[in-house]
Amino acid sequence: MKNIVVLVSGGGTNLQALIDAQHRGEIAAGRITCVISSNPNAYALTRASENGIETAVIRRRDFDAFDDYDAALTKLLREKKADLVVLAGFMTILGSQVIRAFENRIINIHPALIPSFCGEGYYGLRVHEEALRKGVKVTGATAHFVNEICDGGPIIIQKAVAVQNGDTPEILQKRVMEQAEWKILPKAVALFCEDKIKVNGNKTEILE
Ligand code: GAR
Repeated sequence: MKNIVVLVSGGGTNLQALIDAQHRGEIAAGRITCVISSNPNAYALTRASENGIETAVIRRRDFDAFDDYDAALTKLLREKKADLVVLAGFMTILGSQVIRAFENRIINIHPALIPSFCGEGYYGLRVHEEALRKGVKVTGATAHFVNEICDGGPIIIQKAVAVQNGDTPEILQKRVMEQAEWKILPKAVALFCEDKIKVNGNKTEILE
């Protein structure tokens, strides 16, 4: 059984999707053991507590140097015995220490079809604003491993979502979450826990 530690910053709907998938028995080879937030007021922490999951808070601004923050997060994840780290709407950039310590063991959910609308500055609603500004007809979400290139790690699963007439960033964000993020993130986590994701360089192969 793999220990899954989920990092959050906000509302935590992706965390909720993981909790619901676990309750349905869809993540049979893993269990969410801890939720760590960058924000003490994140509603995601309430979702964790309501489901009896341990919580912790670590804030970038409590550390003068970025390296000290990076070291503290790495230490916390080791203390929690994380086998898999999931970034579910985690809005703080990870440092190289934590990325190296958990190489190919950190999964992020990004609300676009990478390599579109990704990289530094592309997070949350901004991603959907840019997709609408460009006028794309199809967008979606990507579950991928995290490496030292922002949104550049091996892709695990992607799912496309249609853009519709009259979409606002908020409407599109909701559709991408419902139709893509909340489905592919739990699926990617389940596959990881069953050792069904093989990483070859910057690509993955799903062993079904
Ligand atoms: C989600 O749409 C997630 O894909 C996005 O933030 C939202 C968090 O919502 N993440 C990023 O943009 C990361 N680059 P949630 O807190 O309700 O899961």
